[in-house]
Amino acid sequence: MKILSTVAELQKQLKDMHLSPIGFVPTMGALHKGHLSLVENALNSCPVVVVSIFVNPTQFNDKNDLNNYPRTPEKDMDILGKVLRDTDIVFSPGIKEIYPEEDKRIFNFGNLDNVMEASRRPGHFNGVAQVVSRLFEIIKPDVAFFGQKDLQQLAVIRNLVKQTGSKVEIVGNPIIREDDGLAMSSRNQLLDADIRSHAAVIFKTISEVNVMIKKHDIAEIKIFVENNINSVSGFNVEYFEIADDIELIPIKSKADMKKENRYFGCIAVKAGNIRLIDNIEIELV
Ligand code: PAF
Repeated sequence: MKILSTVAELQKQLKDMHLSPIGFVPTMGALHKGHLSLVENALNSCPVVVVSIFVNPTQFNDKNDLNNYPRTPEKDMDILGKVLRDTDIVFSPGIKEIYPEEDKRIFNFGNLDNVMEASRRPGHFNGVAQVVSRLFEIIKPDVAFFGQKDLQQLAVIRNLVKQTGSKVEIVGNPIIREDDGLAMSSRNQLLDADIRSHAAVIFKTISEVNVMIKKHDIAEIKIFVENNINSVSGFNVEYFEIADDIELIPIKSKADMKKENRYFGCIAVKAGNIRLIDNIEIELV
């Protein structure tokens, strides 16, 4: 694999190799098996894969969160070195390569920018759209791979691609979980040991929703999810919503679920000091 840090080097390398389709896996580093599944998917379908590692400041609305975000550059290179081929590239740019000037673009994602993650992290998805559109402009990938754990982010990216008329194909990869069911996330390594030992409650609880939905309506299910998780010391549910995966409109009643849509139970939990998100597809009854 090649490790490049400037736009000029990256574009020259891609031009010289002249391979297609170009697969792209954007990351903020602190890589885990979830990222690896994206990389493996990309390697299976693309003769050249670019993995970017860039902790994007514009998507953090909280400076402490940005400062505390895990950074493990050497470990990341080791992990990627074991799977990437000679043609593949790790793109690890400095801030000036991505934002030579301040990015003042404001995107409009309608409802996607009002609910769940967006209402708790103002400006977050605008920052994600800034960096992803900039990386698309630099790399010009044919296919880009994102994890379904960040379901709202995936919907935002699909919306971005539609809005901008971009030709990049967006692939969503299933969530990869630890043995106890906790969704893999770079933030898991920040959990303290006691909180980590109880964190399986999140996935266990949302898995119950597919059983409950047969007999109960949404309001009762939401109360169950909140009470069950909040009963574990150190855990606090920020939201649990059942929403479609395109506009993420939270539904209030089973009667609102349409056969042609896919629905997901989406949750954010404060686990100690760390915010975790997860989701599960809801089987329509
Ligand atoms: O999901 C992430 O890690 C980030 O939001 C992304 C897509 C790499 C943009 O910074």
